[in-house]
Amino acid sequence: MRIKYMIPIVFLVALVIIEKENRIISRVSDKLNLKQTPQTPLQAGVFSHLSLKHNFSFPTLSKDFMVMKQRLENYSEHQEVVKKVRKHVLLLATTRTGSSFVGEFFNQQGDNMFYLFEPLWHVEKMLTLDTGGTNATASAKAYRDVLQQLFLCDFSLLESFIDPLPVNHITTSLFRRESSSSLCEESVCSPVIKGIFERYRCKIRRCGPLNLTMASESCVKKDHRVIKSVRVRQLENLRPLAEDPRLDIRFIQLVRDPRAVLASRMVAFAAKYKSWKQWALGGDRPLDEDEVKKLKGNCDNIRLSAEVGLRQPPWLRSRYMLVRYEDIARFPMRKATEMFRFSGIPLTPQVKAWILKNTQVSKEISGVYSTQKNSSEQVEKWRFSLPFKIAQVVQRACGPTLKLFGYKFVSSEKMLTDKSISLIEDKVFSV
Ligand SMILES: *[C@@H]1O[C@H](CO)[C@@H](O)[C@H](O)[C@H]1NC(C)=O
Ligand SMILES: *[C@@H]1O[C@H](CO)[C@@H](O)[C@H](O)[C@H]1NC(C)=O
Ligand SMILES: *[C@@H]1O[C@H](CO)[C@@H](O)[C@H](O)[C@H]1NC(C)=O
Ligand SMILES: *[C@@H]1O[C@H](CO)[C@@H](O)[C@H](O)[C@H]1NC(C)=O
Ligand SMILES: *[C@@H]1O[C@H](CO)[C@@H](O)[C@H](O)[C@H]1NC(C)=O
Repeated sequence: MRIKYMIPIVFLVALVIIEKENRIISRVSDKLNLKQTPQTPLQAGVFSHLSLKHNFSFPTLSKDFMVMKQRLENYSEHQEVVKKVRKHVLLLATTRTGSSFVGEFFNQQGDNMFYLFEPLWHVEKMLTLDTGGTNATASAKAYRDVLQQLFLCDFSLLESFIDPLPVNHITTSLFRRESSSSLCEESVCSPVIKGIFERYRCKIRRCGPLNLTMASESCVKKDHRVIKSVRVRQLENLRPLAEDPRLDIRFIQLVRDPRAVLASRMVAFAAKYKSWKQWALGGDRPLDEDEVKKLKGNCDNIRLSAEVGLRQPPWLRSRYMLVRYEDIARFPMRKATEMFRFSGIPLTPQVKAWILKNTQVSKEISGVYSTQKNSSEQVEKWRFSLPFKIAQVVQRACGPTLKLFGYKFVSSEKMLTDKSISLIEDKVFSV
């Protein structure tokens, strides 16, 4: 007897739930739709994808059933729209953490990717003070605003930081243009002009100066936009990007053992890290306290950003991923798969081919920005070049950072150079 009444009640409850969800999704996707999604043709018969396990054949409810069916259809259409929304990914790192290498995964993705390599270089350069530093508050704001515009394919704010200032949106000086495939593709390649020197010219084809209007037009057509930057100091500063419904942004923070980073910087930026080297080589003078403070400051920024990300405040929910360079170097394909899945960007055969080619080569290509290395061998190399003395300083200055990311402390020179001891703890940063 009872069951007769139960069925319509359950049915109504289901309707109410669907109605609610439908409304939320409507609101979100309308917002997204407003500025972003090109009109997608509404698909008929989407309903058939939904697996209804039961046949609803109550004559008295047939009208409601039709309404529900339509709502399900609407719901499903909205899902389609949400899926087609453009993907925006910011790859955050610091120098010498392997970000060029990891950025290349995205750069290789294919024709539907707009990838920018270190556009904030110009902003940092312009805002560098006579002291050699920058005003952290002012640069954080500039970085954020430039990134936001770039994700929307607007280069105008960036242009104002390029020196010399572009004329009619044409520039010969965009930093490392050739590192972004998107800036050297056919549609962004203007004719060569004789006699004009370009420091960062395209290598894959001969192009004239970069026409940023063309770059912007190409960007608009792409579904995926990825920017790599080593310049953002605090993830928290980027909150407005996370809250911009036009972006639906994802942040991937790439970190690396601070001892390895310092070892690499001492080679790549030898002049800047001279005092470390002198001290390591047994100078009598104590190590410059300012250098240690700077190191600690860098480590703290990275750790604080990661702590915010891992804590998952509402504004960051499912937008943050932490990746250790060491894991990428050891398991490149697995980590790439995870990063692409997180980003909602398809991992194309080109990316797979690039990873295979560039993580297994035995001969090393020289050059500090080279990405072509035997990555799992490379990842431990610093242990034989960094003096134990310096490793100790890093461990003291960056202790909490090492701990958070699962890098083991070394207690002796012997342990540092003992290859049978891994300094990388297995750690899953699931968020
Ligand atoms: C639903 O109805 C169709 C056609 O009337 C029938 O083929 C199918 O077996 C039914 N499914 C269930 C779960 O009862
Ligand atoms: C489904 O969407 C159409 C157009 O978007 C709307 O007119 C209709 O009222 C919606 N139906 C339901 C049941 O929400
Ligand atoms: C840094 O920039 C901010 C905002 O532009 C300004 O208010 C502040 O005075 C600057 N700080 C220093 C130390 O120059
Ligand atoms: C730059 O590209 C835009 C858009 O394609 C075009 O209208 C403009 O004429 C180009 N500028 C120059 C100087 O070629
Ligand atoms: C890369 O380095 C690892 C670790 O030293 C080694 O086992 C592997 O054989 C190397 N691969 C190639 C292709 O050289």
